[in-house]
Amino acid sequence: MPTPTEIRDLNQHVGEDVTVTGWVETTRGHGKVAFVVVRDGTGVVQGVFLKKELDAAVWDAHGTLTQEATVALSGVVREEPRAPGGYELGVTGVEVIAPSEEYPIQPKEHGVEFLLDHRHLWLRSSQQRAGLKVRAEISQATHDFFYERDFTRIDTPILTGSIGEHAGTLFETDYFGETAYLAQTGQLYVESACPAFRRVYCFGPTFRAEKSKTRRHLTEFWMVEPEVAFADSDDNMRLQEEYVSYLVERALERCSDELEVLGRDTAALERVKPPFPRISYTEAIERLQAKGSEIEWGQDLGAPDEVLITEDFDLPVFVYNYPKEAKAFYMKENPEDPRTVLCNDLLAPEGYGEIIGGSQREDDLVRLRERIAEEGLPEEAYGWYLDLRRYGSFPHSGFGLGIERTVAWITGRHHIREFIPYPRLMNRLTP
Ligand code: 4AD
Ligand code: MG
Repeated sequence: MPTPTEIRDLNQHVGEDVTVTGWVETTRGHGKVAFVVVRDGTGVVQGVFLKKELDAAVWDAHGTLTQEATVALSGVVREEPRAPGGYELGVTGVEVIAPSEEYPIQPKEHGVEFLLDHRHLWLRSSQQRAGLKVRAEISQATHDFFYERDFTRIDTPILTGSIGEHAGTLFETDYFGETAYLAQTGQLYVESACPAFRRVYCFGPTFRAEKSKTRRHLTEFWMVEPEVAFADSDDNMRLQEEYVSYLVERALERCSDELEVLGRDTAALERVKPPFPRISYTEAIERLQAKGSEIEWGQDLGAPDEVLITEDFDLPVFVYNYPKEAKAFYMKENPEDPRTVLCNDLLAPEGYGEIIGGSQREDDLVRLRERIAEEGLPEEAYGWYLDLRRYGSFPHSGFGLGIERTVAWITGRHHIREFIPYPRLMNRLTP
């Protein structure tokens, strides 16, 4: 077989006879002319079979091509604006490299459970490819953003003895006779790396035994968690709006084809630039009550509350300074109103809700120990975390952005399970 040409490079080979290797997406024929669409992972191209120009063997081979069979397709490259990808091959030869019989996913509507059962195959579909391409771009843009700003990447452990967030959503496992948890967050570890590097971040899988089946919850999701020494809660929100705007800009710049495949209205994304609106938790409660919600001061905002709040804005909106009891133990008490903590959530517009949770951290040893005790967490497990307050404490802040929720919002799709290659949900551990 001649060296294959990748489909994305066909524009450099117009008029030449090339071979592409890939998988058959669709075939159709009308007696004298027949078509095959082949995907090679870099693009798709249509091959055109003309009966009068081909040996009978090549012409007949068209009829044996089945969905997802692996093929080497040879032909002359032509520009064809109407063809997917803008080029087509005037077929001169075809070789079936490997067969594919009765491919389970057909060009018709399948139920989502069926598609999730076949996730390893569903990945090949155009919308799934587009969504995961955007995810990969957002992930790369994350590393670029923090690298450009001189953050040091710290890889944090997945097996841990300390409860990072809430005792309620832990995955436990036996660790040579001790109890280990799958990390809910890398935060405690990046905080402790601040005095070594000043600006740090981690980006990895995190785990929560969420017993909810919503469009916004996975049990395994990827989180980006920056942490900055000598940054207060306002600095923290500024970093968040710059970072989120950077992600959106990168998606617009480099994923326009994918956003089109996904049917995204990009006008809504073009607006996403700093500064984002900011409202206090107390103002959020007033707004919600004015809209008829029964929420009371002190309760955390639920998904429907977040949707009601974001209706009033066409940008992501910060809600800051929540009541202490609604948030995690490590958040710094607000000196101006000790019922609240210096924190924020960032709510995405168009009904997507919370994509970021962030806060200034409690840097006072005594108060932090009190908070650990109040939450009923075992202080022994936090000795090392408390050391940060024993040996040179300092103000610092950070946040966590959930990649799947962010990509679902940027692509305008309903459910976050499409934005991780192999989703883990309460009722799903395969494939
Ligand atoms: O608000 P969370 O729980 O914050 C933390 O974990 C902090 N330790 C972050 C920090 O300050 N370093 O989670 C942060 C984000 C949420 O805003 C959401 O985007 C995402 O993580 N997230 C989930 N995404 C998918 N499925 C779940 N079950 C999620 N739980 C949180
Ligand atoms: Mg949160």
